[in-house]
Amino acid sequence: MKPPYLIVSQPRILKAVGQGLKKQFPIEMIPDGERAKTLTTVTRLLDRMVALNLTRQSTLIALGGGVVGDVSGFVASIYMRGIPVVQVPTTLLAQVDSSIGGKTGVNHRAGKNLIGTFHQPRLVLSDPLVLMKLPEREYASGLFESLKYGVIRDVELFEEFERNTPGLLKRDPEAIERLVARCARIKAEVVMADEKEGNLRRILNFGHTIGHALEAAARYQRIKHGEAVGYGMVAASRIAARLGKLDESERRRIESATNGIGRLPLLDGVKGRSVLNALQHDKKILNGAVHFVLPRAIGKVEITPDVPFEIVRDVVKGMLDEAKRKP
Ligand SMILES: NC(=O)c1ccc[n+]([C@@H]2O[C@H](COP(=O)([O-])OP(=O)(O)OC[C@H]3O[C@@H](n4cnc5c(N)ncnc54)[C@H](O)[C@@H]3O)[C@@H](O)[C@H]2O)c1
Ligand SMILES: [Zn+2]
Repeated sequence: MKPPYLIVSQPRILKAVGQGLKKQFPIEMIPDGERAKTLTTVTRLLDRMVALNLTRQSTLIALGGGVVGDVSGFVASIYMRGIPVVQVPTTLLAQVDSSIGGKTGVNHRAGKNLIGTFHQPRLVLSDPLVLMKLPEREYASGLFESLKYGVIRDVELFEEFERNTPGLLKRDPEAIERLVARCARIKAEVVMADEKEGNLRRILNFGHTIGHALEAAARYQRIKHGEAVGYGMVAASRIAARLGKLDESERRRIESATNGIGRLPLLDGVKGRSVLNALQHDKKILNGAVHFVLPRAIGKVEITPDVPFEIVRDVVKGMLDEAKRKP
């Protein structure tokens, strides 16, 4: 009988959570890390799907983090003009963010996620227990991304961080389950209201404008996506406070909740000028202006295109100076 599905994963993930799966199910492995997000990987997966005679009734199962999820979603969206994909996210970042919302894709040498589609998963299955062997920095990275949802839309979620970051850091399964359910609900609500990122969906980019610029300036090395978002949330909050849009006390709460998750990596060697240049290239540039998602209060953000350059420059420079001096 033809297998009705194919699992896509990575060696490291199978070792951590999927021992034994290989003997029972058809699995195709892709290489570890961001470098697997290429059209070459896509072609290899399509070849395997054709060889297995997968049909439109077949399902692709993505067992992994955002990399596996993004590539698998893309392949599922183009094989026979689209077959179902089920996401089984195995990183915290994937559980709270990348597995939900239907953005799929691979990188081009000219830029990240330049090739892709929107293809909603048929099902997202998240289990806190698969996160137990996740490396510490990967886990913290997911916590930074989760804190984002508190700032943009959910005061109670934010307060859960203020109350119980130690429990989250200890990976208490019940605390993780509550967190993932809350973040997933917010992401799903926002995406349902604005699937193709016309407007509302852009609030999910809180912390990402400067975050992406930092990642690019550090050449996607040394800093993880969630860590860059951690820096980006602090920067956006400082910008909002400088503009008089956010109370100083709320800004401090956002910074201390971010710092409570863990120490952000040193940024020595990252130049302010590279970050500002990368900002100019940000794909969120609309009509020549960099759009910032700025907090007005915890739980409420606005999108604003008119932040004076000097304020952005000062905040970025100040943050980089601190990040070089950190013990
Ligand atoms: N589609 C979207 O909406 C969306 C949103 C955010 C990010 N992304 C994408 O997600 C990607 C990042 O995802 P990520 O942070 O999950 O990184 P990742 O998929 O590279 O996983 C991080 C590392 O953890 C390992 N790993 C995964 N699960 C594990 C487990 N349970 N135990 C032990 N090790 C495990 C992986 O092998 C990898 O080395 C980026 O490519 C980004 O562009 C997509
Ligand atoms: Zn993100």
